[in-house]
Amino acid sequence: MVCLGNICRSPVAEGILKKKIEARGLNHVVDSAGTSDYHIGQSPDHRAQKNSEEHGIDISALQGRQFTKEDFKNFDRIYAMDYSNYENIIALAENEEDKEKVDLILNLSHPNSNMSVPDPYFGGEDGFENVYNLLDEACNKLITDIENV
Ligand code: 4NP
Repeated sequence: MVCLGNICRSPVAEGILKKKIEARGLNHVVDSAGTSDYHIGQSPDHRAQKNSEEHGIDISALQGRQFTKEDFKNFDRIYAMDYSNYENIIALAENEEDKEKVDLILNLSHPNSNMSVPDPYFGGEDGFENVYNLLDEACNKLITDIENV
């Protein structure tokens, strides 16, 4: 799960997907990262923490990290929150196999739409509820896909 800062959208996506995976007794590694180095080592934005908590998800222990080329080796699927994140990830790909791992996360729930998860950083708390709902829907689809593999 990849966004720009790794403090708003992608930590929420990580928390949502981890909870769904645990609830189903599945065993997959889930992580998140930012394409920027702005918030390395920082906790998720307090608004993201609060909104996740309201949905029964504790993301307080997560820490920002930057996406690296190594992530292509360590993960089978890489989901970008918006098109700018997508382009930044693709720029680090070394081959077609790397590129094929990357997609916009909302293409899971809205196939071929190339929709972005709106960046809530400069907005109000409503933005975080919208982010949560979009990511919850996308992760439901992802779980169904994984279970049917
Ligand atoms: P995120 O949100 O990419 O969802 O973590 C942002 C966090 C920080 C900044 C921008 C977006 N920033 O400019 O510092």
